[in-house]
Parts: sequence; structure tokens; C-alpha cells
Amino acid sequence: MSGRLEGKVAVITGSTSGIGRATAELFAREGACVVVNGRRRDLGEQVVAGIRADGGEATYFYADVGVSTELRALIDHAVATYGRLDVLMNNAYHATHGTAVEIEEHEWDADMAVLLKAAYLGCKYAIPEMIKGGGGSIINISSVHGVLAGRNYVTYETAKAGLINMTRQVAVDFGHQGIRVNAICPGWIIVNASREWVAEHPEAIRRAEVIYPVGRPGWPIDVARAALFLASDESSFITGHALMVDGGLTIQLQDSLSHVVERWAREANGDHRD
Ligand SMILES: NC(=O)c1ccc[n+]([C@@H]2O[C@H](COP(=O)([O-])OP(=O)(O)OC[C@H]3O[C@@H](n4cnc5c(N)ncnc54)[C@H](OP(=O)(O)O)[C@@H]3O)[C@@H](O)[C@H]2O)c1
Repeated sequence: MSGRLEGKVAVITGSTSGIGRATAELFAREGACVVVNGRRRDLGEQVVAGIRADGGEATYFYADVGVSTELRALIDHAVATYGRLDVLMNNAYHATHGTAVEIEEHEWDADMAVLLKAAYLGCKYAIPEMIKGGGGSIINISSVHGVLAGRNYVTYETAKAGLINMTRQVAVDFGHQGIRVNAICPGWIIVNASREWVAEHPEAIRRAEVIYPVGRPGWPIDVARAALFLASDESSFITGHALMVDGGLTIQLQDSLSHVVERWAREANGDHRD
């Protein structure tokens, strides 16, 4: 049986861990040749070894996507190794917590370089290669924070919102040349990097069970499955879309959300009345 990405070549930035890694593994299981990226070489090689042991095809390529020349080299590597490029997932993450007053200018620039500028450069370098092959799919990993503002995270909120409209802009500009561009907006996804924090804050899981309409936080595979659909030809009539993969977090009215948060707070204090 052939996979849903058979014959396609995919680059996933920031795939040494978390959502990127789960997506690389799923894409490879579905027949794609995957270029795994990130700065931790040991983890990148581990992801590739796992994919190959599973019968898939992948290579690891070191690139700091905040550096234009390295991002260019990543795209070139994919084309040189596999002869084409069909899918780019702009996923790498680097962000500093802080308000507009607290964040230093160099932190703003470093965060924007990875969260937003890398996605623009990814499009700039990947699209001409995709057009040569007849088209392609770009997936920008935004966030629920791209749609609604949280607290003390000014670079993240700004970049993730920018990514959603950049998605629409690039989709409009290149749709006629066979390029589709979509964003995914995940809610809270428990990745390895957050496990230590979660272990120290078990109440956060219970809180998520209460405030997420589906009754749980997300896992990397939840986002990977959405990315698989957007990468595959099954979504060929979908472009410029921002897909919420958030267990319903953002579909709620604020007053109904405040009701469930109050219930959670009462429950945390041993009061189980609804
Ligand atoms: N987890 C969530 O709750 C959540 C929710 C909404 C959206 N998201 C989004 O999902 C995406 C993935 O996040 P995640 O939760 O899976 O985080 P993660 O596990 O920390 O993964 C981040 C990835 O980015 C890579 N990376 C960081 N800086 C890089 C750079 N300069 N160049 C290349 N790669 C770089 C890291 O690899 P190296 O360290 O090896 O470089 C790592 O593979 C992000 O865009 C994030 O904003 C996550």
C-alpha cells in the first residue's frame, strides 16, 4: 500500500524534537523522503536512524534557520539529495518571555529571526524549487497565540500573528504556480521540553482537561496528523488557511471559559460542585 506522501520530498525545520520530530517520523512513514533539521546534531541523527530503522528515508542537515545562508543551504541540500522539493514545514522555535518593555532589542531580533524571518526565507528559497517540480505545499506552524494574545510573550505573539497573514499573502502570490501555503495553530502541546515543567505542575494537566473542550492538552502527533493532511494532495483545494489544532480552546466565549476556570479553581480547593 502506498503512503499519502509517496514520492514527495519534505524539509521540516526544527525537527530534532517535539512537533517537528513527530511530523518527520509520520511523513516518512507515509512515504516522504524527509530532511530533518535542527542544531542538535546528535538528536537529528537519532531521528534519522529511527526513521531508517522503520524502513523510511531521511537525512539530517545542520542549519541555524536564523542565519540566511544556512537556511539556503538546507533547501539546497534537500534538492541535491532527493532531486526535488514538495513540502516545507516552517516549524523551528526560539522565543524569549517578556513584555514590550522588558524585551531587549537583540532578543526581539533573535526571536523574530527564527519565528518569522526564517519562514519568509524558507518561502523565498523553497518556492522556486517547488515550482520547478510542478508545485508544493508550505506549512507554517503558528499558534493559538497568533490569534489571541497571552501574557508576557510579545515577540511570540507578534511573530505567530504575522505568520498567519504571511501565509495568506504567499498563498495569494503563488497559488497559480501550484504552491499552497497553510498555517497550523496548535493549542498546548506537551513536548519533551515541557515534561519537566509539567511534572512540577501536575495541576496544569487538570486545568487543561477542564478548559479544553476535548478534555485534554495536545500531543505532537495531533499536530503531525494535521500537517500530513496539509502536505498531502488530499488538501489540494485548501490554501491560505489557518487551521486551529487546539482541542477547541479558541472556540469558546470568554464568559463560558471564565466559568470553567472558576470551576477548576473550586475543584482545586476540594469543592466539586458544578
Ligand atoms: N508545544 C506547544 O505547546 C506549541 C503550541 C503552539 C505552537 N507551537 C509551535 O510548534 C513549533 C514546534 O515547537 P515544539 O513545541 O515542538 O518545540 P521544541 O520541542 O522545543 O522544538 C523546537 C525545535 O526548534 C529547533 N530550533 C530552535 N532554534 C532553531 C534554529 N535557530 N535553527 C534550527 N532549528 C531550531 C529545535 O532544535 P535544536 O535545538 O536542535 O536547534 C527543536 O527541534 C514552534 O513553532 C512552536 O511555536 C508549539
